[in-house]
Amino acid sequence: MKGIVLAGGHGTRLVPLTQVVCKQLLPVYDKPMICYPLSILMLGGIRQICIISTPRDLPIIRGFLGDGGSLGVEFTYVEQPRPEGIAQAFLLAEEFIGGDPVTLILGDNVFYGDFFQGEDGFARAVRDFERGGLIFGYYLGDPRDFGVLEFDAAGLAVGIEEKPLEPKSNYAVPGLYAYDAGVVEVVRGLQPSARGELEITDVNRTYLERGDLRVDRLGRGIAWLDTGTPGSLQAASSFVEAIEMRQGLKIACLEEIAFDQGFVDRAGFEALIAGFPSPPSECDYREYLEMVLAQKDAAPGGQRSALTQDRAAASSPRSRL
Ligand code: TTP
Repeated sequence: MKGIVLAGGHGTRLVPLTQVVCKQLLPVYDKPMICYPLSILMLGGIRQICIISTPRDLPIIRGFLGDGGSLGVEFTYVEQPRPEGIAQAFLLAEEFIGGDPVTLILGDNVFYGDFFQGEDGFARAVRDFERGGLIFGYYLGDPRDFGVLEFDAAGLAVGIEEKPLEPKSNYAVPGLYAYDAGVVEVVRGLQPSARGELEITDVNRTYLERGDLRVDRLGRGIAWLDTGTPGSLQAASSFVEAIEMRQGLKIACLEEIAFDQGFVDRAGFEALIAGFPSPPSECDYREYLEMVLAQKDAAPGGQRSALTQDRAAASSPRSRL
């Protein structure tokens, strides 16, 4: 499975912030937004990742993330000359996709919860993925700003509508989708919508009508946050701050995830730490990574979980993304 992070767009609702830099580089509490969707792909075990953004912003993102080698992953960068729809990502990334299945995550979506930890949730969905499409349904009080699912009496998804005025359910489709390589052909067969975009909802509808779309409902223990407006951006920052302060563990710390996933070994992790400002500079992020290393060393068998539990008094010691 390969991965795509779509990190361009208009960012209209965040003007004038997005007149400086794209939404996905704006801070969500203590790190750039793009770290959150990237962390989800990495937690899913995905190591070949294509990042798509605007001609203005792509060089800045590349400057921040590099080729991924130090994280044990491989980043490929592709420009989207104009924001012509989420589904256009698959045309732009056609060469990158090759014949492989691909997971697309929107660069402004923040996910958090046990589903994205360990081997049984998202990682298993990625591992077991064979063909067709896989999307998720997430309960929202007001889903009208999103693609919304329709279910039959047996609970099977039978329809999807983009931003309906009268939604047929409360289940919105979050910005996390997996498809087989046939998605490129599916997008080629689409017409732009009335707003001139290649719509991801049309991709999903095509798979659904073929009987090839799996829809998994995400439980209410999972947080899915959108960051498209000043208010929702602020709310996402507050959410991350609250969890990180309470647990003493970071959400979406890419270096930590690379180490935990075995993408980098101890020496590789030490090299990552060395890339951050060293004392006497005060760099909380470096201190955090040093703590991660110390805990790994101190815990029996190199397992961090027992020690982390003591330290954070958290109910779930691995509740970080
Ligand atoms: P949206 O939030 O739907 O759009 P936007 O980011 O352009 O913001 P606004 O509505 O305020 O103008 O986009 C969802 C995500 O997909 C976001 O991360 C941007 C990205 N995106 C692209 O990269 N290219 C595109 O062509 C579109 C439509 C979205």
